[in-house]
Amino acid sequence: MAQNSGEARGWARRWAGGFWILGIWLTGCAAQSPSILAPVSPKGRAEAELFWFILLITAGVFVLVETLLLYAVFRFRARDPRAIPPQIHGNNALEISWTTATAVGLAVIFAMTWRTMAATSTPPADALPVKVIGHQWWWEFQYPTLGITTANELVIPVGRPIRASVTSADVIHSFWVPQLGGKMDAIPGRENAVWLQSDVEGVFYGQCAELCGISHANMRLRVRAVSEAEFQRWVEAQRAPAAQPVEPLAQQGYQVFMSKACVGCHAIAGTPAQGRVGPDLTHFGSRTTIAAGLLENTPENLARWLDNPPAVKPGALMPRLGLTPEEIQALVAYLLSLK
Ligand code: CUA
Repeated sequence: MAQNSGEARGWARRWAGGFWILGIWLTGCAAQSPSILAPVSPKGRAEAELFWFILLITAGVFVLVETLLLYAVFRFRARDPRAIPPQIHGNNALEISWTTATAVGLAVIFAMTWRTMAATSTPPADALPVKVIGHQWWWEFQYPTLGITTANELVIPVGRPIRASVTSADVIHSFWVPQLGGKMDAIPGRENAVWLQSDVEGVFYGQCAELCGISHANMRLRVRAVSEAEFQRWVEAQRAPAAQPVEPLAQQGYQVFMSKACVGCHAIAGTPAQGRVGPDLTHFGSRTTIAAGLLENTPENLARWLDNPPAVKPGALMPRLGLTPEEIQALVAYLLSLK
Protein backbone atom coordinates (compact mmCIF):
# COMPACT_ATOMS: atom_id res chain seq x y z
CA MET A 1 0.00 0.00 0.00
CA ALA A 2 2.81 2.39 0.96
CA GLN A 3 4.55 1.57 -2.32
CA ASN A 4 1.36 2.26 -4.29
CA SER A 5 0.86 5.70 -2.82
CA GLY A 6 4.54 6.46 -3.56
CA GLU A 7 4.00 5.45 -7.17
CA ALA A 8 0.86 7.58 -7.34
CA ARG A 9 2.78 10.57 -6.04
CA GLY A 10 5.49 9.94 -8.67
CA TRP A 11 2.88 9.93 -11.42
CA ALA A 12 1.27 13.08 -10.04
CA ARG A 13 4.64 14.80 -10.06
CA ARG A 14 5.33 13.72 -13.63
CA TRP A 15 1.93 14.99 -14.78
CA ALA A 16 2.38 18.26 -12.94
CA GLY A 17 5.81 18.62 -14.56
CA GLY A 18 4.31 17.90 -17.97
CA PHE A 19 1.61 20.55 -17.56
CA TRP A 20 4.17 23.03 -16.31
CA ILE A 21 6.31 22.54 -19.44
CA LEU A 22 3.21 22.69 -21.63
CA GLY A 23 2.25 25.96 -19.95
CA ILE A 24 5.66 27.47 -20.67
CA TRP A 25 5.53 26.20 -24.20
CA LEU A 26 2.14 27.76 -24.81
CA THR A 27 2.82 31.12 -23.21
CA GLY A 28 6.59 31.50 -22.87
CA CYS A 29 7.61 32.88 -26.24
CA ALA A 30 4.45 34.87 -26.93
CA ALA A 31 6.08 38.20 -26.14
CA GLN A 32 8.49 38.42 -29.07
CA SER A 33 7.93 35.48 -31.35
CA PRO A 34 6.30 36.52 -34.60
CA SER A 35 3.47 34.39 -35.93
CA ILE A 36 2.65 33.48 -39.50
CA LEU A 37 -0.97 33.76 -38.34
CA ALA A 38 -0.59 37.49 -37.66
CA PRO A 39 0.36 38.59 -41.18
CA VAL A 40 0.77 42.26 -42.15
CA SER A 41 1.52 41.78 -45.85
CA PRO A 42 -0.57 40.72 -48.87
CA LYS A 43 1.66 37.67 -49.32
CA GLY A 44 1.53 36.76 -45.63
CA ARG A 45 -2.25 37.10 -45.62
CA ALA A 46 -2.64 34.87 -48.70
CA GLU A 47 -0.45 32.22 -47.07
CA ALA A 48 -2.26 32.43 -43.73
CA GLU A 49 -5.63 32.11 -45.50
CA LEU A 50 -4.37 29.01 -47.30
CA PHE A 51 -3.22 27.59 -43.96
CA TRP A 52 -6.67 28.10 -42.38
CA PHE A 53 -8.40 26.67 -45.44
CA ILE A 54 -6.29 23.49 -45.36
CA LEU A 55 -6.67 23.25 -41.59
CA LEU A 56 -10.45 23.44 -42.00
CA ILE A 57 -10.50 20.62 -44.56
CA THR A 58 -8.14 18.41 -42.57
CA ALA A 59 -10.01 19.10 -39.32
CA GLY A 60 -13.21 17.99 -41.09
CA VAL A 61 -11.48 14.80 -42.25
CA PHE A 62 -10.18 14.18 -38.72
CA VAL A 63 -13.62 14.57 -37.11
CA LEU A 64 -15.29 12.39 -39.76
CA VAL A 65 -12.71 9.58 -39.53
CA GLU A 66 -12.62 9.59 -35.71
CA THR A 67 -16.43 9.59 -35.52
CA LEU A 68 -16.71 6.62 -37.88
CA LEU A 69 -13.90 4.83 -36.02
CA LEU A 70 -15.52 5.30 -32.61
CA TYR A 71 -18.91 4.31 -34.04
CA ALA A 72 -17.40 1.11 -35.49
CA VAL A 73 -15.53 0.31 -32.28
CA PHE A 74 -18.67 0.51 -30.12
CA ARG A 75 -21.34 -0.61 -32.56
CA PHE A 76 -19.47 -3.70 -33.83
CA ARG A 77 -17.51 -4.74 -30.75
CA ALA A 78 -17.40 -8.50 -30.08
CA ARG A 79 -20.15 -9.30 -27.62
CA ASP A 80 -19.35 -13.00 -27.58
CA PRO A 81 -15.55 -13.51 -27.77
CA ARG A 82 -15.97 -17.04 -29.13
CA ALA A 83 -18.34 -16.12 -31.97
CA ILE A 84 -16.87 -15.83 -35.47
CA PRO A 85 -17.81 -12.49 -37.08
CA PRO A 86 -19.66 -12.53 -40.41
CA GLN A 87 -17.17 -12.84 -43.30
CA ILE A 88 -17.43 -10.06 -45.92
CA HIS A 89 -15.43 -9.37 -49.07
CA GLY A 90 -15.26 -5.61 -49.29
CA ASN A 91 -17.84 -3.03 -50.28
CA ASN A 92 -17.34 -1.54 -53.75
CA ALA A 93 -19.63 1.44 -53.25
CA LEU A 94 -17.92 2.44 -50.00
CA GLU A 95 -14.41 1.95 -51.35
CA ILE A 96 -15.08 3.96 -54.51
CA SER A 97 -16.69 6.76 -52.55
CA TRP A 98 -13.92 7.17 -49.97
CA THR A 99 -11.22 6.99 -52.65
CA THR A 100 -13.04 9.59 -54.73
CA ALA A 101 -13.69 11.86 -51.75
CA THR A 102 -9.99 11.75 -50.78
CA ALA A 103 -8.87 12.46 -54.35
CA VAL A 104 -11.28 15.39 -54.64
CA GLY A 105 -10.13 16.79 -51.29
CA LEU A 106 -6.46 16.60 -52.32
CA ALA A 107 -7.25 18.11 -55.73
CA VAL A 108 -8.99 21.07 -54.05
CA ILE A 109 -6.00 21.60 -51.70
CA PHE A 110 -3.64 21.34 -54.68
CA ALA A 111 -5.64 23.89 -56.68
CA MET A 112 -5.83 26.35 -53.77
CA THR A 113 -2.08 25.96 -53.09
CA TRP A 114 -1.31 26.50 -56.76
CA ARG A 115 -3.48 29.61 -56.83
CA THR A 116 -1.78 31.07 -53.73
CA MET A 117 1.68 30.30 -55.10
CA ALA A 118 0.88 31.88 -58.45
CA ALA A 119 -0.53 34.98 -56.74
CA THR A 120 2.40 35.45 -54.37
CA SER A 121 5.52 34.19 -56.14
CA THR A 122 6.11 37.06 -58.56
CA PRO A 123 6.96 40.44 -57.03
CA PRO A 124 5.04 43.39 -58.51
CA ALA A 125 6.94 45.09 -61.36
CA ASP A 126 7.36 48.38 -59.44
CA ALA A 127 8.89 46.67 -56.39
CA LEU A 128 11.96 48.23 -54.74
CA PRO A 129 14.90 45.84 -55.27
CA VAL A 130 16.91 44.74 -52.22
CA LYS A 131 19.68 42.18 -52.23
CA VAL A 132 19.63 39.98 -49.14
CA ILE A 133 22.89 38.15 -48.45
CA GLY A 134 23.14 35.56 -45.69
CA HIS A 135 26.49 35.31 -43.91
CA GLN A 136 27.63 33.15 -41.01
CA TRP A 137 25.97 34.65 -38.87
CA TRP A 138 24.44 37.92 -39.95
CA TRP A 139 22.42 39.46 -42.77
CA GLU A 140 23.60 41.96 -45.33
CA PHE A 141 21.08 44.20 -47.10
CA GLN A 142 22.01 46.09 -50.26
CA TYR A 143 19.70 48.56 -52.00
CA PRO A 144 21.27 48.60 -55.50
CA THR A 145 19.09 51.42 -56.86
CA LEU A 146 19.72 53.59 -53.79
CA GLY A 147 23.41 52.81 -53.26
CA ILE A 148 22.94 51.70 -49.64
CA THR A 149 24.45 48.76 -47.77
CA THR A 150 23.39 47.89 -44.26
CA ALA A 151 23.17 44.89 -41.97
CA ASN A 152 20.66 42.99 -39.87
CA GLU A 153 17.98 45.68 -40.06
CA LEU A 154 15.99 46.00 -43.24
CA VAL A 155 14.25 49.36 -43.44
CA ILE A 156 11.29 49.46 -45.84
CA PRO A 157 8.58 51.99 -46.68
CA VAL A 158 5.06 51.01 -45.63
CA GLY A 159 2.78 49.80 -48.40
CA ARG A 160 5.51 49.54 -51.01
CA PRO A 161 6.46 46.09 -52.37
CA ILE A 162 10.08 45.02 -51.96
CA ARG A 163 11.72 42.55 -54.31
CA ALA A 164 14.29 40.70 -52.24
CA SER A 165 16.93 38.75 -54.17
CA VAL A 166 18.13 36.27 -51.60
CA THR A 167 21.59 34.73 -51.78
CA SER A 168 24.42 33.62 -49.51
CA ALA A 169 28.12 34.35 -49.11
CA ASP A 170 28.97 30.98 -47.56
CA VAL A 171 26.55 28.18 -46.64
CA ILE A 172 22.79 27.79 -47.15
CA HIS A 173 20.67 30.08 -44.97
CA SER A 174 16.96 30.82 -45.12
CA PHE A 175 15.48 34.31 -45.00
CA TRP A 176 12.29 34.37 -42.98
CA VAL A 177 10.17 37.20 -41.57
CA PRO A 178 7.04 35.28 -40.53
CA GLN A 179 4.57 38.20 -40.53
CA LEU A 180 5.63 39.31 -43.99
CA GLY A 181 5.39 35.92 -45.72
CA GLY A 182 7.06 32.57 -46.24
CA LYS A 183 10.71 31.56 -46.14
CA MET A 184 13.22 31.78 -48.96
CA ASP A 185 16.44 29.78 -49.12
CA ALA A 186 19.69 31.75 -49.39
CA ILE A 187 21.92 29.60 -51.59
CA PRO A 188 25.51 30.51 -52.59
CA GLY A 189 25.76 31.33 -56.29
CA ARG A 190 22.01 31.65 -56.77
CA GLU A 191 19.49 34.44 -56.40
CA ASN A 192 16.01 33.53 -55.23
CA ALA A 193 13.40 36.26 -55.47
CA VAL A 194 10.85 36.79 -52.74
CA TRP A 195 8.33 39.56 -52.35
CA LEU A 196 7.93 41.52 -49.12
CA GLN A 197 5.58 44.26 -48.13
CA SER A 198 4.28 45.65 -44.88
CA ASP A 199 0.92 47.36 -44.71
CA VAL A 200 1.57 48.80 -41.25
CA GLU A 201 4.44 50.61 -39.58
CA GLY A 202 6.35 48.61 -37.04
CA VAL A 203 9.23 46.27 -36.36
CA PHE A 204 8.94 42.68 -37.54
CA TYR A 205 11.30 40.01 -36.32
CA GLY A 206 12.94 37.52 -38.61
CA GLN A 207 15.20 34.54 -38.17
CA CYS A 208 17.44 32.37 -40.30
CA ALA A 209 15.39 29.22 -40.89
CA GLU A 210 18.06 26.82 -42.15
CA LEU A 211 20.64 25.20 -39.88
CA CYS A 212 23.83 26.97 -40.91
CA GLY A 213 26.31 26.32 -38.12
CA ILE A 214 26.87 26.95 -34.46
CA SER A 215 25.21 30.37 -34.29
CA HIS A 216 22.27 29.56 -36.56
CA ALA A 217 19.86 30.38 -33.73
CA ASN A 218 21.60 33.73 -33.25
CA MET A 219 21.14 34.80 -36.86
CA ARG A 220 18.29 37.21 -36.40
CA LEU A 221 17.06 40.18 -38.32
CA ARG A 222 14.52 42.95 -38.02
CA VAL A 223 12.41 44.57 -40.67
CA ARG A 224 11.54 48.17 -39.77
CA ALA A 225 8.57 49.39 -41.79
CA VAL A 226 8.39 53.18 -41.75
CA SER A 227 6.33 55.89 -43.48
CA GLU A 228 7.39 56.98 -46.96
CA ALA A 229 8.66 60.34 -45.60
CA GLU A 230 10.69 58.65 -42.87
CA PHE A 231 12.06 56.18 -45.40
CA GLN A 232 13.25 59.05 -47.62
CA ARG A 233 14.97 60.66 -44.62
CA TRP A 234 16.59 57.33 -43.77
CA VAL A 235 17.79 56.90 -47.37
CA GLU A 236 19.33 60.39 -47.39
CA ALA A 237 21.12 59.74 -44.10
CA GLN A 238 22.39 56.34 -45.24
CA ARG A 239 23.72 57.70 -48.52
CA ALA A 240 25.77 60.35 -46.80
CA PRO A 241 29.40 59.44 -46.07
CA ALA A 242 30.28 58.49 -42.52
CA ALA A 243 30.18 61.23 -39.91
CA GLN A 244 33.57 62.69 -38.94
CA PRO A 245 34.36 62.07 -35.28
CA VAL A 246 34.10 65.29 -33.27
CA GLU A 247 34.57 64.30 -29.63
CA PRO A 248 38.19 63.59 -28.60
CA LEU A 249 37.26 60.08 -27.42
CA ALA A 250 35.56 59.31 -30.75
CA GLN A 251 38.59 60.68 -32.62
CA GLN A 252 40.76 58.36 -30.56
CA GLY A 253 38.36 55.53 -31.48
CA TYR A 254 38.77 56.40 -35.15
CA GLN A 255 42.55 56.01 -34.76
CA VAL A 256 42.10 52.66 -33.01
CA PHE A 257 39.72 51.44 -35.72
CA MET A 258 42.05 52.41 -38.57
CA SER A 259 45.17 50.96 -36.92
CA LYS A 260 43.73 47.61 -35.79
CA ALA A 261 42.42 44.56 -37.65
CA CYS A 262 38.93 46.18 -37.90
CA VAL A 263 39.72 47.64 -41.34
CA GLY A 264 40.45 44.19 -42.74
CA CYS A 265 36.80 43.17 -42.49
CA HIS A 266 34.64 46.27 -42.17
CA ALA A 267 33.89 49.19 -44.46
CA ILE A 268 33.16 52.75 -43.35
CA ALA A 269 32.40 54.90 -46.39
CA GLY A 270 34.70 57.89 -46.77
CA THR A 271 37.50 56.33 -44.69
CA PRO A 272 40.38 53.96 -45.52
CA ALA A 273 38.31 51.09 -44.03
CA GLN A 274 36.98 49.14 -47.02
CA GLY A 275 36.79 45.53 -45.78
CA ARG A 276 33.90 43.49 -47.16
CA VAL A 277 33.92 40.42 -44.92
CA GLY A 278 31.91 41.80 -42.02
CA PRO A 279 28.98 44.24 -41.86
CA ASP A 280 29.35 47.73 -43.35
CA LEU A 281 29.62 50.13 -40.39
CA THR A 282 29.16 53.47 -42.18
CA HIS A 283 25.97 54.22 -40.25
CA PHE A 284 26.40 51.74 -37.44
CA GLY A 285 25.10 54.18 -34.82
CA SER A 286 21.70 54.32 -36.55
CA ARG A 287 21.01 50.63 -35.98
CA THR A 288 19.03 49.53 -32.95
CA THR A 289 20.80 46.19 -32.46
CA ILE A 290 24.24 44.66 -32.80
CA ALA A 291 25.58 41.14 -33.40
CA ALA A 292 22.77 40.12 -35.78
CA GLY A 293 19.98 41.33 -33.53
CA LEU A 294 21.33 39.60 -30.42
CA LEU A 295 21.90 42.73 -28.34
CA GLU A 296 20.43 46.21 -28.15
CA ASN A 297 22.88 48.73 -29.56
CA THR A 298 23.96 50.34 -26.27
CA PRO A 299 27.47 51.42 -25.16
CA GLU A 300 27.60 48.60 -22.56
CA ASN A 301 26.59 45.89 -25.03
CA LEU A 302 28.92 47.19 -27.71
CA ALA A 303 31.81 47.17 -25.23
CA ARG A 304 30.93 43.60 -24.29
CA TRP A 305 30.90 42.61 -27.96
CA LEU A 306 34.22 44.32 -28.78
CA ASP A 307 35.89 42.68 -25.80
CA ASN A 308 35.01 39.13 -26.80
CA PRO A 309 32.66 38.56 -29.80
CA PRO A 310 32.61 34.72 -29.69
CA ALA A 311 31.47 34.90 -26.05
CA VAL A 312 28.36 36.79 -27.19
CA LYS A 313 27.77 34.91 -30.46
CA PRO A 314 29.40 31.45 -30.37
CA GLY A 315 31.50 30.83 -33.46
CA ALA A 316 31.45 34.51 -34.46
CA LEU A 317 34.01 35.02 -37.21
CA MET A 318 35.09 38.27 -35.54
CA PRO A 319 37.85 37.10 -33.19
CA ARG A 320 38.79 38.39 -29.78
CA LEU A 321 41.16 41.23 -30.70
CA GLY A 322 42.73 41.70 -27.27
CA LEU A 323 41.67 45.35 -27.06
CA THR A 324 42.41 47.25 -23.85
CA PRO A 325 39.46 48.72 -21.91
CA GLU A 326 40.59 52.21 -23.02
CA GLU A 327 40.65 51.17 -26.67
CA ILE A 328 37.20 49.63 -26.28
CA GLN A 329 35.75 52.82 -24.75
CA ALA A 330 37.24 54.87 -27.59
CA LEU A 331 35.87 52.49 -30.24
CA VAL A 332 32.42 52.55 -28.64
CA ALA A 333 32.42 56.36 -28.76
CA TYR A 334 33.49 56.36 -32.41
CA LEU A 335 31.13 53.62 -33.65
CA LEU A 336 28.07 55.06 -31.91
CA SER A 337 28.84 58.47 -33.43
CA LEU A 338 28.34 56.93 -36.90
CA LYS A 339 24.65 57.80 -37.11
CU1 CUA B 1 21.88 31.16 -41.26
CU2 CUA B 1 20.80 29.49 -40.01
